[in-house]
Amino acid sequence: MPRAVYPGSFDPMTNGHLDIVAAAAELFDNVIVAVLNNPDKKSLFSVEERMELIRASVKAYTNVSVDSFSGLLADYTRLQTADVVVRGLRSVQDFEAEIPMAHMNRRLNAQLRTVFLPASLGVADISSSLVKQIAMHGGALTGLVPDDVARALKRKYHN
Ligand code: COA
Repeated sequence: MPRAVYPGSFDPMTNGHLDIVAAAAELFDNVIVAVLNNPDKKSLFSVEERMELIRASVKAYTNVSVDSFSGLLADYTRLQTADVVVRGLRSVQDFEAEIPMAHMNRRLNAQLRTVFLPASLGVADISSSLVKQIAMHGGALTGLVPDDVARALKRKYHN
């Protein structure tokens, strides 16, 4: 099976993202989790911190690596000789947002296919923004994020 890129902001990685990584690691020979370096979006964690947290969370998967990219995803996938983009779908709203991106990415790189993986039951309600809100107010992060991410969130907000 081809090489796949799973792109996103991952600010920070959640158990929802991890669920998609696990499924992609089963389906593809190689999976690159690619953190978008987007200077226009204010993020809690730096790109390096996000990559470090993802590395810690995916270390069990020998065919998964972590990288970052700037610019167009279509160019980055070409550079990585990856023909598949993986995106998770939690809801119909995700689907509506993802379809135009999938079409546009294929227009920009004719080799590129987007594969949508449904979020597993139990993690479909998780988003990085909600997790940050909960962490900011000292709420329980159990089941929402990997342990390293929970610790990093506590350090950011409560140190
Ligand atoms: N489980 C849990 N949360 C998920 C999830 C899942 N399976 N899938 C998405 N999310 C959440 C994220 O946590 C994030 O939550 P937040 O908004 O609360 O922070 C939100 O959904 C957005 O997801 P993310 O994967 O970070 O998408 P994005 O919209 O920030 O980035 C890119 C999408 C990186 C794929 C896209 O912006 C891109 O390719 N950019 C590069 C430039 C480019 O090529 N543009 C043209 C595209 S056609």
